[in-house]
Amino acid sequence: MYRSPMAVTPETRTWEALFAARTRAGAGDGIAAILGLVANPELISFAGGFPDPLTFPAGRTAQLLAELAEAGDNSAFQYAPTQGLAGTRDALASRLEALQGARPADDELVVTSGGIEALELVAKSFLDAGDTVVVEGPTYLGAIMAFRSFESDVVAVPLDEDGLDVDALAATLAAGLRPKLLYTIPDHQNPAGVTLSAERRGALVELARRYGFLIVEDVAYRELGFDGTAPASLWSIGPDVVVQAGTTSKTFFPGVRLGWAAGPAEVVAQLVSAKQNTDQCSGALGQRLFEEYARRGWIDEQLELSRALYARRCERLLAALERTMPEGVEWTRPRGGFFSWLTLPVDATELARRAVDAGVAVVPGALFFPDGSGGGNMRLSFSNVDDELIDVGVERLATLL
Ligand SMILES: Cc1ncc(COP(=O)(O)O)c(C=O)c1O
Repeated sequence: MYRSPMAVTPETRTWEALFAARTRAGAGDGIAAILGLVANPELISFAGGFPDPLTFPAGRTAQLLAELAEAGDNSAFQYAPTQGLAGTRDALASRLEALQGARPADDELVVTSGGIEALELVAKSFLDAGDTVVVEGPTYLGAIMAFRSFESDVVAVPLDEDGLDVDALAATLAAGLRPKLLYTIPDHQNPAGVTLSAERRGALVELARRYGFLIVEDVAYRELGFDGTAPASLWSIGPDVVVQAGTTSKTFFPGVRLGWAAGPAEVVAQLVSAKQNTDQCSGALGQRLFEEYARRGWIDEQLELSRALYARRCERLLAALERTMPEGVEWTRPRGGFFSWLTLPVDATELARRAVDAGVAVVPGALFFPDGSGGGNMRLSFSNVDDELIDVGVERLATLL
């Protein structure tokens, strides 16, 4: 229980003493630090997982806004139901059906304020202090923070070029670990840029059924495979044990803060209940914009352009690494998404610090592990760096190495 000093004066007051225990769970301010680096226009930034503004549909968004206003479509301006507007849910369900071969029923889908809210709602609905969550090592920092903020124990299982090491997970489970949740990014993983193989997907779903945990499948980069294909989603293979967290941030634009969660009806009902006292509903304007954008087929046109842009950037990055990096440096070869993951013979945190002085921002690997390992790794994001600057930035990193 908190006991305040006898008499609080401006000198003795510290708000920190009043902060909730869960804020001290090591969630940190890592993402804010990354966003800070990206905002510095002086740096060549391989740091943030940002889409390139070239992909932002400004003209079509202006057209849709004008149409919605002129048609007197109040649904775009009014509060929305907590689960999301019926039309938007229908458009999202149709997209899942077209892209993943399965359609969530009405009560199996909730619209969220970005993918990060879907993760937060799952964490809030499932985790008590001390519960275990398994993640990939490395994984998305925002997910580590979301799970930690509910005082859970976040445990990493390694991954390789075929994604999560499902055999290592099986061994850990056989040895007695009992997670409530397993969080995975099967497609073009953040930060490693690898994709979970089809065989491992089936095996992972079977483990969830056997040991009774929920798989949280984050599909943030799924639609950005350079060749437009993807293995079956975990949710389509195991709709009884998977909740899928999706986002329109990388494919439409992040300014709308729009995403979804699809899963078993009982789980989705719990998420909707949790959402009532976070934001109550996701922004209706963004929901209507995305719905119209998807119904007109514009999202598919945009995706083609985005895939070509990111494939070109990735190729440029890999060629620059090949050309310049000294012996002993290794990197992953993504087939989609925004990231390549480097393994270095030196301390990456120190290198990242020196890189800033050389005008280049990268994210050191330790931020992507719950236990602070990854000291010899760093993430390079190629999504939002101009082609020529990719060469310049990589050359500077190679010089530092
Ligand atoms: C793997 C992954 N999941 C979720 C998100 C969150 O996306 P948003 O909250 O913008 O939808 C990101 C953003 O970088 C991400 O990389």
